[in-house]
Amino acid sequence: MAIINACFSSNHFAIIHLLLLFFYVSSCLDIIKICLADANVLCLDADREGLFAFKTSLTDPSGRLASWVGEDCCTWNGIKCNNQTGHVTKLELRNPYWLVNGGVGDREAYKRSCLGGKINPSLLHLNQLNYLDISFNDFEGAPIPDFFGQLQNLRYLNLSFASFSGEIPNQLGNLSGLQYLDLYADSYSNSGTLELSTQNLKWLSGLSSLKHLNLGYVKLDGVGADWLQTVNMLPSLVELRLHWCQLQGLPLSLPSINFTSLSVLDLSENSFNAFPQWLFNLTSLTKLYLRWDFFNNHIPGEFANLELLEVLDLSNNLELGGQIPGIFGNLSRLRILDLSANNLIGDIQEFLGGFSGKPNNLFFLDLSSNSLVGELPESLGNLKNLQYLFLSGNSFWGSIPSSIGSLSSLWKLDLSYNMMNGTIPESFGQLSKLVDANLMQNSWEGILNEAHLINLRRLESIRLTTQPTRSLVFNVSYKWVPPFMLKSIQLENCLVGPPFPLWLQLQTELTFVVLRKVGISDTIPGDWFSKLSSQISYLVLSNNEIKGNLPHELEFPNLRGIDLSSNRFEGPFPQWSINTSELYLQDNSFSGPLPENIGVLMPRLQRLYLSWNHLNSRIPSSMCDMLDLQVLSLRSNKFSGELPNCWHQSQMLWAIDISNNTLSGHLPISFGYLRSLSVLMLSNNNLDGEIPSSLQNCTGLTSIDLGGNKFSGTLPPWIEDNKLASLFMLRLQSNLLSGNIPQRLCNLRNLHILDLSHNMFSGCIPRCIGNLSALVHGKNSEVFERLIYVAIKGRDPEYRSIIAIVDSIDLSWNNLTGGIPDEVSSLSALHILNLSHNYLAGPIPPSLSSLTSLTRLNLSYNNLAGRIPPLPKFVDPSIFEGNPSLCGAPLPNKCPRSSTFRKTNF
Ligand SMILES: *[C@@H]1O[C@H](CO)[C@@H](O)[C@H](O)[C@H]1NC(C)=O
Ligand SMILES: *[C@@H]1O[C@H](CO)[C@@H](O)[C@H](O)[C@H]1NC(C)=O
Ligand SMILES: *[C@@H]1O[C@H](CO)[C@@H](O)[C@H](O)[C@H]1NC(C)=O
Ligand SMILES: *[C@@H]1O[C@H](CO)[C@@H](O)[C@H](O)[C@H]1NC(C)=O
Ligand SMILES: *[C@@H]1O[C@H](CO)[C@@H](O)[C@H](O)[C@H]1NC(C)=O
Ligand SMILES: *[C@@H]1O[C@H](CO)[C@@H](O)[C@H](O)[C@H]1NC(C)=O
Ligand SMILES: *[C@@H]1O[C@H](CO)[C@@H](O)[C@H](O)[C@H]1NC(C)=O
Ligand SMILES: *[C@@H]1O[C@H](CO)[C@@H](O)[C@H](O)[C@H]1NC(C)=O
Repeated sequence: MAIINACFSSNHFAIIHLLLLFFYVSSCLDIIKICLADANVLCLDADREGLFAFKTSLTDPSGRLASWVGEDCCTWNGIKCNNQTGHVTKLELRNPYWLVNGGVGDREAYKRSCLGGKINPSLLHLNQLNYLDISFNDFEGAPIPDFFGQLQNLRYLNLSFASFSGEIPNQLGNLSGLQYLDLYADSYSNSGTLELSTQNLKWLSGLSSLKHLNLGYVKLDGVGADWLQTVNMLPSLVELRLHWCQLQGLPLSLPSINFTSLSVLDLSENSFNAFPQWLFNLTSLTKLYLRWDFFNNHIPGEFANLELLEVLDLSNNLELGGQIPGIFGNLSRLRILDLSANNLIGDIQEFLGGFSGKPNNLFFLDLSSNSLVGELPESLGNLKNLQYLFLSGNSFWGSIPSSIGSLSSLWKLDLSYNMMNGTIPESFGQLSKLVDANLMQNSWEGILNEAHLINLRRLESIRLTTQPTRSLVFNVSYKWVPPFMLKSIQLENCLVGPPFPLWLQLQTELTFVVLRKVGISDTIPGDWFSKLSSQISYLVLSNNEIKGNLPHELEFPNLRGIDLSSNRFEGPFPQWSINTSELYLQDNSFSGPLPENIGVLMPRLQRLYLSWNHLNSRIPSSMCDMLDLQVLSLRSNKFSGELPNCWHQSQMLWAIDISNNTLSGHLPISFGYLRSLSVLMLSNNNLDGEIPSSLQNCTGLTSIDLGGNKFSGTLPPWIEDNKLASLFMLRLQSNLLSGNIPQRLCNLRNLHILDLSHNMFSGCIPRCIGNLSALVHGKNSEVFERLIYVAIKGRDPEYRSIIAIVDSIDLSWNNLTGGIPDEVSSLSALHILNLSHNYLAGPIPPSLSSLTSLTRLNLSYNNLAGRIPPLPKFVDPSIFEGNPSLCGAPLPNKCPRSSTFRKTNF
């Protein structure tokens, strides 16, 4: 009404100003028409009723359609009407929680906000509808309604991410005015189990106005070889997206090319292999996506025909090989080139040479994960507009060319995982836009001084790790003030110390710090931890020689992991309140007890490594309150007293290593609740009593080492009962165990390490020992090695000493009697066999010579008799000594002419 009033007053004004009369009248007549229409409520009854019924059959948990009340449907949310006729023309009901940059901000809000239910054919009342968007909703696998084909005025139809499934109705082919069709089917709300499909694409030929077509994730494996012909009949097509459509093979030739206006083509993640010639006739292409398509052979030079190309993605074709041709420099509009994860070989001289003397717009170049070699040429400097340069995972060597300094827009550089064995040039310091530099896993040489870093004003993240140790030296003056304020730093193996660098102390925004093996042998300045404590999430200072105490009480609200291992820290264990999941303090000189409330201070710990310190006293029972605890490593400390018996809730704990302490008492019965327990190492303590039967509940045990204690009694029956089928290592040496070696021990079919030495076992070696099938086949031990490595992490020699005894049997220093069973000779994977210091009698089985893997043998101090059979590898007499009745080489005593122990006797 305001407009109408304005019009009348203008009219009145116009009477006085005659000259302007005509203008005002004519323009106001238009406005009045509109205003009047507005005033009359445009929404047509039929449209409104159609919408009402449509709304009623939908589900709308978050009330997105709450405004759909009252007469004037043109004012409802998501509705647009023609302002002349009042017909509803546009229905836009896309879920607003889908972010434009792809992804869901708030997943719950997104799900709640999904429309669903049934799509009512009452939509057909909207006979002027030209725009329909119901994307990012959840129709739970319903088919696309075929009556959509009757919405004959549709120009825009978007059903993407809406969980439709089944056959696409051919009726959609009747929408001859349709310009935009999006059926992208990888819905966020279903996990890919629903599928849209179509048996042929013939229906497409009716869509003669189509400009944009997206059938991503629609199953097209049955469309037949002529599908491309159908698409080729769409002369206006500008954008075609057939991402992940299970298309098998791309026709190599076409009689004619009609879709020459095609500008965007995405055929990624199908199964093609050769590049078809017609592709290079699509000279209007600006964006071409062909990743994960199994293209092989090499990159054709014909890409140079596609002069308008701005984006080319040929990544992840795995078998795409050959050298990168020099043609890309001819594509002057090319902005994004992704050739990563192929099998490209050779150097990149020709590729970069192609850009010489030509203007280029390349700002994103990804050549990572190929097999490229050679030095990086100076011509890299041709790519002056580069913002992203990814070269990781190749075999480039040499130095970074000094021309890198001319890449003045460079924002992100990744040269990690190469063989760079030269220097970083001073011009690197000119990269004033550089935010993220990843130079990890190379063999850098030389020095980095202030000049190398002088203008890196925007640098937020630097990662630089090198082999061998200290080939690269950070040489900046102690008082140097860096131009950058880092968030993330990772330096490994280069020399940064010996003092704790001042420049590092000036970096007050760090959230991620790794300074491993960088030669710092200083104390950490008193306030450094507290300065970082509020934001730091990951802190690694391991393998230095850092001295001093840790600040006693601090809160680290965001700390996820901290590794201060292999330094010279001393003093008490820090009473830090942290939500950290990983704490590595092993191999230092921490002393004193653990805090009684450690489980309260560090409730989220998953991995706790404290081995090789001087910690003492009891292990606090609040340890059992760490419900996420997976690895507990307290090896080589001075812990004493009994183990806490409170493990009823520790469902995640899979490795316990408290070897080499002075624990006493029995094994806690509650170990039986450790459902995940795999590695149990408690050797070299003063534990006693029997091995509790509750351990049989830990059926995932792979490694038991209880050696060097005072355990007594017989072997627990469950060890034989095949309850521990995964057992790889059983070490019970140096205890007070007695009784027979039971037959059923032979059922441990994964056993690779058996050590029962230094006990009081008596009776015979069971003949079934030949059934220890792991020692027959010698299955690989990678899993075991990994488990042990993680479980005892700390000093290398300990780990190696365990790995060195894989495939061994040690029964020495017991009271075993009887003969050495012939069956031992079936254990063809056996490396080590020690039967010394028993009362074994009879001859040495000659079949032992068939144990080709055997490298260590000891049969000394038994009652063995007769001639030593030929065992060419074993010439050291000491392994046979202490058997008075043995004779022959390598022992000095010759055998009598007729030995009483002839082979046939046994
Ligand atoms: C009415 O619709 C036409 C075409 O859609 C548009 O150009 C015009 O600006 C609209 N007028 C008003 C007042 O919205
Ligand atoms: C391509 O266009 C030509 C000429 O317009 C026409 O004769 C031919 O049928 C079209 N080819 C296809 C496959 O649609
Ligand atoms: C592609 O273009 C070449 C010339 O550049 C022409 O000879 C050839 O016929 C074209 N192919 C098709 C299928 O149009
Ligand atoms: C690329 O451009 C150069 C001139 O800069 C030209 O000599 C060469 O033929 C072009 N290569 C192709 C494949 O178009
Ligand atoms: C760097 O590595 C390359 C390739 O392995 C080798 O040829 C070259 O001698 C090495 N250079 C230095 C300085 O070690
Ligand atoms: C046991 O721990 C002590 C320190 O407590 C250490 O000196 C010794 O080397 C360790 N022994 C083994 C076998 O780890
Ligand atoms: C061992 O497992 C059995 C059966 O699952 C259970 O009843 C028993 O309480 C467990 N014992 C221990 C000590 O965990
Ligand atoms: C071991 O055997 C010897 C000799 O037969 C015997 O004197 C000794 O008591 C036995 N020891 C045990 C623990 O059985």
